[in-house]
Amino acid sequence: MPGTLKGLVLSGGAGTRLRPITHTSAKQLVPVANKPVLFYGLEALRDAGVTDIGIVVGDTHEEIEAAVGDGSELGIRATYIRQEDPLGLAHAVLTAEGFLQDSSFVMYLGDNLLRDGITALVDQFRTGGSDALIQLQRVPDPESYGVAELDGDRVIRLVEKPKEPASDLALVGVYMFTPAIFESAKAIRPSERGELEITDAIQHLIDRGLRVEPHVVTGWWKDTGRLDDMLEANRLVLDVIQPRNDGEVENSVIEGRVVIERGARIIDSSVRGPAIIGAGALVENAYVGPYSAISSGVVVRRAEVEHSILLANSRVENVDARVESSLVGRGATIRRGDQKPRAYRFMVGDSSEINLL
Ligand code: TTP
Repeated sequence: MPGTLKGLVLSGGAGTRLRPITHTSAKQLVPVANKPVLFYGLEALRDAGVTDIGIVVGDTHEEIEAAVGDGSELGIRATYIRQEDPLGLAHAVLTAEGFLQDSSFVMYLGDNLLRDGITALVDQFRTGGSDALIQLQRVPDPESYGVAELDGDRVIRLVEKPKEPASDLALVGVYMFTPAIFESAKAIRPSERGELEITDAIQHLIDRGLRVEPHVVTGWWKDTGRLDDMLEANRLVLDVIQPRNDGEVENSVIEGRVVIERGARIIDSSVRGPAIIGAGALVENAYVGPYSAISSGVVVRRAEVEHSILLANSRVENVDARVESSLVGRGATIRRGDQKPRAYRFMVGDSSEINLL
């Protein structure tokens, strides 16, 4: 494909599956191992040589713009494209037509994480002659995904969440397109859920006789749109972190691979990696167990936390039982008081979920 490739990173959407976190903040900014999930995607594009990147944003645009800025710290040039309503991935493509113009581009879903990046995909597209290239992965439950049917090295059919899947090859959140996609995205109609589906637009390319090719990946891939996936992504990334201590450790035991950021203090505690303790966090009289990501400014005191993501400035204090497999929002507090009679007392935001196990 001649010319410069642009990037299109989708960072709008409603994020209903990650409420209540997404009531107040963008799901693409929820950190995985203390780094916003969106940054992994932007870095993957940069590492594949794609630095001119349009970021589609919705209601959470201010927060995303504040986090990414002009992109220079991530080695990219960011252009923001406002999508007024999350009307589908193909709608996002159409919204970005003014930015993309006649360039071919890689489209990346801003809440997706791929272990091996996208360099191989981009290289295949650059050297091949396809009109679109879709990234696929074998999954055990294809009926939950967009599924591709292949004939040799061509994609011949795409079906969204098929009841009887023709293959176990699911669409992973990365696609390469030539400008031919615009005509197809304009030709399709909204699906039952009211969205312009990218699978329908790609099927339209195929029906026009254009060449759509598969790129099958084997390294892990995670769509972090749900809590369990978020925790798994956190686990997968923490699994390969390199230990480092830029904070203070006092009378504590640190085991395994643990990253302690600047200004973090660990006092009279035990931390078992893989785990990350963010800048300025305080862990006191506490246990932080494997696969925990403690963001900056968090306090964990007289409590035990494991396999959890604690967002910035949250607090977990005086809790008898271990806090496990949890996502605690920014500035949220979980605390046991000393009043009698003992009771649970909550101030819980909309769509929150509390499980007393
Ligand atoms: P999804 O996770 O498919 O959709 P969503 O963000 O609306 O989430 P939920 O299903 O929980 O309500 O979207 C994938 C990515 O694409 C995500 O980063 C959001 C982004 N997106 C857009 O930018 N515009 C859109 O119109 C849609 C549907 C998604």
